[in-house]
Amino acid sequence: MAIKIKDIQAPISKEMLDFEKKFRQSMKSNVMLLDKIMTYIVKRKGKQMRPMFVFLSAGTVGQIGDSTYRGASLIELLHTATLVHDDVVDESTYRRGFFSVNALWKNKIAVLVGDFLLSRGMLLSIDHGDFDLLKIVSEAIREMSEGEILQMEKAKKLDITEEVYYEIIRQKTASLITACCKVGTASAGGDPVAIQSMGEFGEKVGMAFQIKDDLFDYGTQEVGKPLGIDIREKKMTLPLIHALNNSSKVEKKHIIKTIKKHSEDSAKVNEVIAFVKEKGGIEYATEVMNKFHSDAIDILHTFPKSEKRTSLEQLVQFTIDRTK
Ligand code: IPE
Ligand code: IPE
Ligand code: MG
Ligand code: MG
Repeated sequence: MAIKIKDIQAPISKEMLDFEKKFRQSMKSNVMLLDKIMTYIVKRKGKQMRPMFVFLSAGTVGQIGDSTYRGASLIELLHTATLVHDDVVDESTYRRGFFSVNALWKNKIAVLVGDFLLSRGMLLSIDHGDFDLLKIVSEAIREMSEGEILQMEKAKKLDITEEVYYEIIRQKTASLITACCKVGTASAGGDPVAIQSMGEFGEKVGMAFQIKDDLFDYGTQEVGKPLGIDIREKKMTLPLIHALNNSSKVEKKHIIKTIKKHSEDSAKVNEVIAFVKEKGGIEYATEVMNKFHSDAIDILHTFPKSEKRTSLEQLVQFTIDRTK
C-alpha cells in the first residue's frame, strides 16, 4: 500500500498546521482584488511537499526553529509564484484541479500576482535578517529561470539530448528541492558540510520528482493539470528522448516532423505517445527515476537515524509513488 501524505506528516503535523497559518498571513494584501486571488490560491493549495522537505531536513539535522518556518513560507511563496508564471508561459488553463490564475484573471494579472508572491517571500526573509536562507533560495530562482528558458530554446529546435534534459530538470525543478533541504538544514544550525550534503540529497529527489511529473503526461489518470501537454508544447522529456535514441533515422525524422508540424493535432499527438510507449520510453524513464531515488536514499542514510529521517525517507518514496 502506498504511504499517505498524512502519515508522512505525523512527526511534523503541528509544524504543518502552524505553517499554513503563517503562510496565509504572509500573502495578505490591502488591495482587494489581490487578496481575493490570494484566497483563491490558498483554497486550492498543492501537496505542500516543499515545506515538508524544509521541516523534515531541519528535524533530521537539528531543531526546527522560527527561521525554519520562515524558510518554509519563503519556499512555498516562491513555488506558488513560479507555478502562476509557469501557467502563463505554458498557456495552461488548469492547475491543482481547477482554473489557473491566468485562466480566470488573464495573463496581465497573473504576471503581477507572481511578482507579488515573490516579493512577499523576499521581504519575509529580509525583515528577519534570514540572509543565508535568502541567498540559497535566490540561487534557486536564478536556476529555475535559466532552466525554463533553456527548455524553450530546446523546444524550438527539437534537438534535446538526454544530457540537456537532465540539465533542464535539474535547473527548473531540482534546484528548488535542493534549496528546501539546504534551507531546512541551515535553519536548524547545520554546518556547511551538512548543508551541502542535504542539498545533494534534495537534488536527487528533485530529479526523480520531475521525471515522475513528465511520466504523468503520458498517462491517462487525472492529475489536476492537463495531460499530453508536453508534446503539444514541443517539450521533449525523457520517455520521448529515449524513444528517439532507439529508433531508425527514418522513424526519428518522421516523429520530429510530426511534433514540429502537428503538435496541435490530438490524433498526431497520440501517434507520438504510442511510439514512445512502443520504444520502451516509459520503462526507461521509470528506471532512471528509481536510480535517482536510490541515490537520494544513500545520501540520506549518511545522516543519523531518527523519526524525522524516516519520514523524509517516506516523503522521497511518495515523490515517485504519487498519483498527482
Ligand atoms: C509542480 O509541483 C511543479 C513541478 C515542478 C512539476 P508540485 O506537483 O509539487 O505542485 P503542487 O504545489 O503540489 O501543486
Ligand atoms: C513546472 O514546470 C514549473 C517549474 C518547475 C518552474 P512544468 O511546466 O514542467 O510543470 P507543470 O506540468 O506545469 O506543473
Ligand atoms: Mg507547465
Ligand atoms: Mg513549464
